[in-house]
Amino acid sequence: MGMKNLITSQLEVTGIPLLRKGKVRDVYDLGDKLLIVSTDRLSAFDWVLETPIPDKGKILTEASLLWFDLTKTIIPNHLITADLGEIKKRLPSGVQASWKDLEGRTMLVKKAKRVDAECIARGYLAGSGFKEYKKSRSVCGEPLPEGLLEASPLPHPLFTPSTKADEGHDQNISFEELKSFVGVETALKLKGATLKLYEFASDYSRSHGLILADTKFEFGFVGSELYLIDEMLTPDSSRFWDAQLYRTGSSPASFDKQFVRDYLEQTGWDKNSAPPVLPQEIIEQTRIRYLQFLKMLKN
Ligand SMILES: Nc1ncnc2c1ncn2[C@@H]1O[C@H](COP(=O)(O)OP(=O)(O)O)[C@@H](O)[C@H]1O
Ligand SMILES: [Mg+2]
Repeated sequence: MGMKNLITSQLEVTGIPLLRKGKVRDVYDLGDKLLIVSTDRLSAFDWVLETPIPDKGKILTEASLLWFDLTKTIIPNHLITADLGEIKKRLPSGVQASWKDLEGRTMLVKKAKRVDAECIARGYLAGSGFKEYKKSRSVCGEPLPEGLLEASPLPHPLFTPSTKADEGHDQNISFEELKSFVGVETALKLKGATLKLYEFASDYSRSHGLILADTKFEFGFVGSELYLIDEMLTPDSSRFWDAQLYRTGSSPASFDKQFVRDYLEQTGWDKNSAPPVLPQEIIEQTRIRYLQFLKMLKN
């Protein structure tokens, strides 16, 4: 997804080239490695909000690290280390930063040749999938049985890739289109890894009181091997529901930024001008949701 504004953060690292300031993360280039700093920025409707959510970057980093460890036998991932002492040792001299602010939100990773596709797995009917189902009884072109409700489990998890656009909106693509973009062999690997990861994460989540409705993975090549990159299975990249509050026929409370989106929607904001500042109460409630998610995952 593209981005219409950028806010600066106190987390800047100097002395190494900034490769990319993403909506949420700052990525520095170290040649064959990347330094990824997860900020507290929150994006909604393609805007980065003025008001950060305190500790969000740390909470999401901790979740990703947990998942990287749990899934490393399914597929290798890009993580080298998230230990700041270890990271500092590996950085060229002359690099400067406010190190204590980077603690817990910084990863040193292998730089991959990114596959420009978002690899999405969906196990439940939600969001844009539900909208499409109501219109055409399908999700991303895949026909589904009649009578499913919002939040119903799908007969089996679906792999629904989309393009990964640096600017503008991502677009759903068919498996055939994916094959023509990345080649048959890679497409099959992406699908296999995505569904395996989803199945594992879905079971793990369920035993921690969470339902993983859908999620997005990114992959890349390190040499000739396919690696999992980016963040994984965080509320920014996934739709998690509280299993205790889950029911079909309505949209279950999620741990992602739906709460912020709902707030923004009801302010009457036109989404074309700078977004409204979030009230303290909304910031705090959002932070509590992120924390609650991590607590459940670790329990
Ligand atoms: N190991 C890696 N190698 C190459 N690119 C990566 C790697 N891990 C993450 N990335 C890229 O770094 C960026 C992370 O920043 P993010 O804030 O998520 O940006 P975006 O606005 O694209 O979502 C993404 O573009 C992601 O694809
Ligand atoms: Mg991203």
